[in-house]
Formats: sequence, structure tokens, C-alpha cells
Amino acid sequence: LAFTAALVLLAYLIGSVPFAVVVSKLMGLQDPRSYGSKNPGATNVLRTGNKTAAALTLLGDAAKGWFAIGLAEKLAPGIAPAGLALVALAAFVGHLYPVFLGFKGGKGVATALGVLVAIQPWLAVATAATWLIVAVFFRYSSLASLVAAFFAPVYYVFGSGLAWYAQPALGVALAVIGVLLFYRHRANITRLVQGTESKIGGSKKKPG
Ligand code: G3P
Repeated sequence: LAFTAALVLLAYLIGSVPFAVVVSKLMGLQDPRSYGSKNPGATNVLRTGNKTAAALTLLGDAAKGWFAIGLAEKLAPGIAPAGLALVALAAFVGHLYPVFLGFKGGKGVATALGVLVAIQPWLAVATAATWLIVAVFFRYSSLASLVAAFFAPVYYVFGSGLAWYAQPALGVALAVIGVLLFYRHRANITRLVQGTESKIGGSKKKPG
């Protein structure tokens, strides 16, 4: 049990690494917490117009979820699904409330995607495709994230019946991740309802 607790703490620390801030600093860009939605995430980094920085942020933040779970499986072979579910949640919560940023982190979309990749690659593909379809049609990153977050646990349950074996603990973790993701998008939801949410590639104004 102590070992699982150590793995959960490790996952939290991994999830806490804020790639939006790190990548921006390394590439000489403004701190993403100072412009746009002020969110340290790939979508907001994209508002600088630097697609490479945004892609690296997305990759880095997704890698955290994937890596935290992979590491736990490597260090504790045969770890119980409940333990793995806690590890997944810890990495996600690390991104939302990172110890390295005074507990003010991002919204968790990329990190949740990384968690999905580790749990079941096809689940990640289906969820990412859902994100993409909504993003292409409506041009709102946040709306795409919310719809994808809603469907991820649904796909997990359906997929379990069709192709892969689902662990209830992981299904619950995905649902909790979805709820937290919605909670972190409160301001986006308000803007979507008011029609003031910024669209992907919508504004040509660059920060700074
Ligand atoms: O990745 C978070 C995305 O869903 C919304 O980001 O910057 O538009 O609040 P943002």
C-alpha cells in the first residue's frame, strides 16, 4: 500500500510539470498565464500563433498521463486496477493543481488524452476523433474538449463490451476526470453560452 501511495505521489509530481510554461520559456514566448484565457495549456499557447510551441505543449502534457501510468505498471507489475486508477487521477490532478505553479494549473485535456493512450489506445483514438470532429465543425477548443470528455467514459464502457476488457475502477477514474475537466472549464462554459468564447484560429491578434 505504501508503494502504491509512492506511485500516486510520483504520478502527481509528473502531472505537475507545466509544459505550457516550460515550452514557452524555452522558446522565448510570453508566459501563457499572461494572455488569452491565461490557461497554461496547448490551446492558449496556440494563441501566440506558434504552432510548434502549441504542439510541443500538447505532446508534453499528454506524455505526462501516458508516462505516469506506464511507469507505475513498470515499477509495480500487476498493480491492481484501483491503484492504476489512482495513478491516472493523480497525474491529471497534478496538471490541474501543480505544486510547481502554486497549485494553479491547466484544464487537463492533453493529460487526460495521455491517460487514455495508456489505458487503451483505441479509446484515445475514438476520443481524439470526437474532439477533432467538434473542433472542425464548431471551431471551439473548449467545446470539443467538453464533448470528448463526456464521451470518453461512455466509449470505455461500450468498448469494454465490444473489444476490450474494462476495469470498473478505471471507468470510474475516467468519469471523475471528466467531471473535474468540466469543473475546470466553468469560465469556458459561461463564454460558450454567452457566445464570447474565442474560436480556434479566430483572432489574428497576437499577444504581446
Ligand atoms: O485545453 C483547454 C481547452 O479546452 C480550452 O483552453 O485556453 O480556450 O481556455 P482555453
